[in-house]
Amino acid sequence: MSLNITFLGHAGFLLDDGEHRLAIDPFLTGNPLAVHKPEQIQAKHIALTHGHADHVGDTVAIAKRNDATVYGVFEIYEYMSEQGVTASPGNPGGKIETPFGWIAFTQAFHSSSYEGRYMGQPTGLVIGMGGVTFYHCGDTGLFGDMQLIGEIYKPDIAAIPVGDRFTMGPELGARAADLIRPRHAIPIHYKTFEGMLTDDISAFTPDSAPVKKMEPGETWAFEK
Ligand code: NI
Ligand code: MN
Repeated sequence: MSLNITFLGHAGFLLDDGEHRLAIDPFLTGNPLAVHKPEQIQAKHIALTHGHADHVGDTVAIAKRNDATVYGVFEIYEYMSEQGVTASPGNPGGKIETPFGWIAFTQAFHSSSYEGRYMGQPTGLVIGMGGVTFYHCGDTGLFGDMQLIGEIYKPDIAAIPVGDRFTMGPELGARAADLIRPRHAIPIHYKTFEGMLTDDISAFTPDSAPVKKMEPGETWAFEK
C-alpha cells in the first residue's frame, strides 16, 4: 500500500494513489511558498478543510479545468454549486465514501468565511486513500478529542498546523501529535506569511511521532 504525498506549501497537498488524485486546500496563487501553478494540478477530487482564502485558494479554477468534485462542509458545497462546480457535502462526525476511498470530517477550532460570507464549520479531514490514512487537522487550536480521533482512525500521517497566531504554534502542535499518535507528523501552515506565521518550528518535537518536514513541491513516496 502506497501513496504519493506532494506538499503544495502552506496547508496544501496533492495525494496520488496511482489511480486517483486528490488535492487538499490548493492555495497556489498568492502563496509565496508555492512552486506549483494551478494549471499544473491534475486532480479529479479536491477536499477543503474550511472556507478561508488561504485554503480555498485556486479550487474553483482547478475544479472547472479538471471537472473535479469538491468535498467540504455544507456551506462550502453550496458555494461551489453556485460557482458551477460539482461538490459533495459533509459535516463533522460524518464519513463519506468516495471513488478514491473515504473522507471523515472532524471538528476543528477555528473560524470559516470567504469574502465576508459564512462558510460553515471549519473541519479537519481524515482521508483513506491507497490503504493509507491521512489526517489533515485543518486550521485548529489544540483540543483533547484529537486523542479520540487518533484512537478511532489510527492515522499513518497527521498534517498539523504549527505556525501560531491563527492555529497552534510548534509547542502546542507537538502536544497535538502526542494526542493523535500518528506514525509520522508533517508540520504545515507556518512561514507562509512573513511576520504573521512563525518560521521557527524547532519546538515542534513530539515524543510519539517522528517529524517529516516537507518542502513545498516535495513528493514523499509513502510506503505502508
Ligand atoms: Ni483559516
Ligand atoms: Mn489558514
